[in-house]
Amino acid sequence: MPAPFVDPRPLYETESPLSTRVGAFGRYLVVDEASQSLFDDVTREVARHSPVLDIGCGVGVPLLPVGPAAFDRPDMVAGDLSIRQLRSIGMAASGPPPGLLQFDAARLPFRAASFGSALARHMLYHLPDPRTAAAEAARVIRDDGLFVATTNSSRSRPELQDAHTEAATDLGGRLVERMSTNFDAESGGSKLAGSFLEVRAEPWSGVLAFPGVDEVLDYYRSAAYFEMAFDTAADRARLAGRVAEILRSRFGDGPAPLTVGGAVFICTGPVR
Ligand SMILES: C[S@@+](CC[C@H](N)C(=O)[O-])C[C@H]1O[C@@H](n2cnc3c(N)ncnc32)[C@H](O)[C@@H]1O
Repeated sequence: MPAPFVDPRPLYETESPLSTRVGAFGRYLVVDEASQSLFDDVTREVARHSPVLDIGCGVGVPLLPVGPAAFDRPDMVAGDLSIRQLRSIGMAASGPPPGLLQFDAARLPFRAASFGSALARHMLYHLPDPRTAAAEAARVIRDDGLFVATTNSSRSRPELQDAHTEAATDLGGRLVERMSTNFDAESGGSKLAGSFLEVRAEPWSGVLAFPGVDEVLDYYRSAAYFEMAFDTAADRARLAGRVAEILRSRFGDGPAPLTVGGAVFICTGPVR
């Protein structure tokens, strides 16, 4: 069963929810050694395939340190549906602003074979059909180009997911399908296969090593499934309170690590 489509635009209308999540990943993500070498290898490989297109660049710094941030390279073009997020990147630029464009991943405004590499990091699950964006990425990279897509596993963050499910069920909230179901570590490969001759799926895993439950809650409140559980702020506050109780019964006042993981898909041989 395909996941019901959730329009991503309201979720990224302002930059603050994604900035909060990117900040949490930047501060607290600790990955195992194999994942770190994977991230480093892919970042080096992307650097060898210039120029770089960042599709769905968000706030300019990716959740996972796989490939460059919008400011890292002068040869990078970055784009997103969200104009507010793009503005926030432009405003944060200290030197010349990076090449930023508003675009839809399903209709990239570039000629065929314009890029050495293209990145779609934690974003293909927002497309009603991720295959259309994969086909567009294959169209805009050169024959010797590289396409990299990152995503979560359907089993990522079980500690928080279970607490949310329990609390939302207790309080009569709306439970929505995980946002990444449409393109996760388990289902993503098959959606890329029609657009690339070679699709390599590499797993990544680690923890978000939150120092305590309060920091988990800041992260939780920035998540779409929290926002969508109730229509009113008062109900969402009750939900956050209940989740805090469940997490405190598990972690006490100490560190509150969440298990995370997913896949990096490395694709070559674009099919046009
Ligand atoms: C979870 S964020 C990931 C952002 C960034 N790539 C990262 O790794 O942090 C998903 C991003 O995809 C963007 N997005 C969703 N659908 C899109 C589409 N059809 N075309 C372009 N961007 C899209 C959203 O606006 C959001 O910035």
